[in-house]
Amino acid sequence: MCGIIGYVGETEEHDALDVLLEGLSGLEYRGYDSAGIALANGSIAVRKKEGELSALESALEGEALAGDAVGIGHTRWSTHGPPSDRNAHPHTDADGRVAVVHNGIIENYQPLREELADGGVTFESDTDTEVVPHLIAAFLEAGLDREDAFRRAIGRLEGSYAIAAVFEGEETIYAARNESPLVLGLGDDGHYLASDVPAFIRYTDRVIYVDDGEFATLTPETVTVTDADGRVVETTVETIEWDAEDAGKSGYDHYMLKEIHEQPSALRECLRGRVNELERSITLEELPALEWEGPVQFVACGTSYHAAMFGAGLLESRGVPARPYLASEYTAAERPVGPDSLVVAVTQSGETADTMRALREANAAGATTVGVTNVVGSSAAREADHVLYIRAGPEIGVAATKSFASQQAALTMLACALSETDAGDVVRALRDVPDGIQTVLDTSTAREVAEAYEDADAYFFIGRGPQYPVALEGALKLKEITYKHAEGFAAGELKHGPLALVTDNTPVFAVVVGDGERARKTVGNVKEVEARGAPVVAVTDGQTDIERYADHVLEVPAGDELAGAILANVQLQLVSYWVAHRLDRSIDKPRNLAKSVTVE
Ligand code: F6R
Repeated sequence: MCGIIGYVGETEEHDALDVLLEGLSGLEYRGYDSAGIALANGSIAVRKKEGELSALESALEGEALAGDAVGIGHTRWSTHGPPSDRNAHPHTDADGRVAVVHNGIIENYQPLREELADGGVTFESDTDTEVVPHLIAAFLEAGLDREDAFRRAIGRLEGSYAIAAVFEGEETIYAARNESPLVLGLGDDGHYLASDVPAFIRYTDRVIYVDDGEFATLTPETVTVTDADGRVVETTVETIEWDAEDAGKSGYDHYMLKEIHEQPSALRECLRGRVNELERSITLEELPALEWEGPVQFVACGTSYHAAMFGAGLLESRGVPARPYLASEYTAAERPVGPDSLVVAVTQSGETADTMRALREANAAGATTVGVTNVVGSSAAREADHVLYIRAGPEIGVAATKSFASQQAALTMLACALSETDAGDVVRALRDVPDGIQTVLDTSTAREVAEAYEDADAYFFIGRGPQYPVALEGALKLKEITYKHAEGFAAGELKHGPLALVTDNTPVFAVVVGDGERARKTVGNVKEVEARGAPVVAVTDGQTDIERYADHVLEVPAGDELAGAILANVQLQLVSYWVAHRLDRSIDKPRNLAKSVTVE
């Protein structure tokens, strides 16, 4: 999704161009197809290019743009108009007095565009964003000063936006936010704004999160946040607890591999202070005793939805009715949600538009809401009644990895807290998971499995109970980073249709953990595919005889189904990674995908 960066400060300390380019590189993980910058000390200089950031950097070579102290930058993920130089941001008015970058969607851009065109404006791009600089220019022409022109223009917009604007010859950035992330950074030698903290973390860890409906004005000396009426808003300065190195690759070829390997420490962090081994109890201090009626409703997308399925299944197994919903399919009008409901929004980024809409509808219906998120200060964290942080640390690779494991652990703890059941079994299961993941990472033969099956026609993943969402997640991971066809099934469903797809070139990954009835039944399903000639990869702790029917075995330490679901997923992450590696895919930034999906 689009990312924005802005900087205003002292040129002696930082050149705005350098800060913007570094900031854009810190936002690359969000996914983009073009990038651009505008510098504004004197007349506005805009440079923008379709393609990777390196295309913009090459275009800037030899340009005498150093020495500016104020500028804005943007990575674009196309929504209105194809990727191209002219659709890339920043966009300006006809006279180049103001330049604007925007993340989000301006829903009423069509009537605004027609109105401006009737007034003589010629548009240079297909974007919704371009109406903004033209609106600002129209208000300037009507005699308003710059700040008022900016505010009035923003007041005309409907939809979602984080917008930043610079005016020619002025060391000020004007910004506004509605339903798209915007964070301000307070440095010693200047001020920053961005869609996300990695854009400026190397310069400052002191941040202010801007709320919906608020405006921010940044100069080299001051940062002022105001409401829609211009009244100054009291803000809280928060300190980010990770640094630039945490957000770097630390010697790994890809963020994804680094983040897969960070899972033991991420899990320890998630469990810290929450799991009490001596008392065999779980305490989530951030959550008060909650009361609700009806099933607990989980809303989430993609990988987070798989975690929500896992959490809802666990809650039901502990006697509490629960239901996971795809956030994009959840509308309060059609769901039994009201003041007595409990709605849990699961979202790594805390900014996913579908999940945020569902959460907002639940809030509006009066439900009690809990945000389960990774990003401190994110929209989900601020808008839910209560927040449970998964504490996975920054996740840069577009494919969610460590955040899924941390979501599984956090939702396991949440299920204990909500069900008020004895947590002894969960404490036992979770306690050994970080070391168990380390064992998987140290001993995995996923690379050989990837080599054996890199040319497969399709990949199928099966599991039952807690392993079913893991099967779905295994398939999602493989398809998104290898671009190969993969599907996950509840193991028992195979014979109701999907078995027709099975051939000797469609490996079936079967997740079988423990020795319970579910595991034994999945072994039965494996026999069915094996009998039809499909290669079988067993992801197992060896407590059943599945190995007899498997061509390859990916081992996980023996334990219960719960821990097994976290451990088995790590093996599947590694298989996807190594298949994608062999196929030379863009692992950290798969085509067409974005890390933070801020449009519905
Ligand atoms: C897949 C992936 C996506 C996200 C989904 C929700 O690897 O990363 O499916 O899980 O876009 O994102 P969050 O969790 O940020 O709401």
